Amino acid sequence: MTTLLRAEGLSLKFGGVVAADGIDFTLEEGERLAVIGANGAGKTTFINICTGFIRPDAGTIWFNGHDVTSKSPRQIVRLGLGRSFQLPQLFVDHTVRQCLELGAVGRSGRLSWFRSLAASVDAVEVDHALELVGLRERAHEPASSLPEGLRKLLDVAMALMLQPKLLIMDEPTSGVASEDKHGLMETVMAALDERKVTSWFVEHDVEVVTRYATRVAAWISGRIAADGTPEHVMNDERVKREVLGTR
Ligand SMILES: Nc1ncnc2c1ncn2[C@@H]1O[C@H](COP(=O)(O)OP(=O)(O)OP(=O)(O)O)[C@@H](O)[C@H]1O
Ligand SMILES: [Mg+2]
Repeated sequence: MTTLLRAEGLSLKFGGVVAADGIDFTLEEGERLAVIGANGAGKTTFINICTGFIRPDAGTIWFNGHDVTSKSPRQIVRLGLGRSFQLPQLFVDHTVRQCLELGAVGRSGRLSWFRSLAASVDAVEVDHALELVGLRERAHEPASSLPEGLRKLLDVAMALMLQPKLLIMDEPTSGVASEDKHGLMETVMAALDERKVTSWFVEHDVEVVTRYATRVAAWISGRIAADGTPEHVMNDERVKREVLGTR
């Protein structure tokens, strides 16, 4: 197995709140990790540290062999670490297709005053992404017109345009009706499998976790309290009491 991401001794305090408390963590290529934890446990903070949005007080992060602890989000994306957000970060005034084009431009960094956005990217690649996430029919609608589930999908698809090796998704199914969660995850996971992208998603729905994850890590108060197979972690007494019992 090849290690894709490694964190050592990561700590971060926000005033008196310990959001990361000496986290040691390793992710191997090919894993599908689900991160669970009560509200405020530090799941998003850990993602923000790994993706360069927040600097830790202490500790080091390596991604794909590079020390990324002091790198910017843009530099980290270019190394192949993509993310989607708890609240989708879309260009709401643009169409679905243009959002994907902007995603592709984010990778190449090539946007010229003299060429249109559409002419700056590979149209076939955009078509393929639209197909993959089932948004072809809505390609010319403004992103703002999409229901929450499709906004989440579009946010993931934009991150995929960056051709990441690892995609971290912060609550891809939050705000999505329970009956639509599995459909959304099926689409996302099929797209990730097709591109052989390692993934990690934050999720509160136990059924979604056990169905789509090969590994689960449970966060409690800025620490990883349990880490292993879904069966092992979901049956851990502390996780049952302090994570699953809170919802
Ligand atoms: N920018 C910030 N400034 C101050 N405190 C913060 C900041 N970001 C997070 N925190 C605090 O750090 C702790 C961890 O927050 P974080 O957002 O990482 O939790 P989470 O596990 O993602 O929760 P949720 O399930 O609600 O998304 C919380 O107590 C939160 O209030
Ligand atoms: Mg969060």
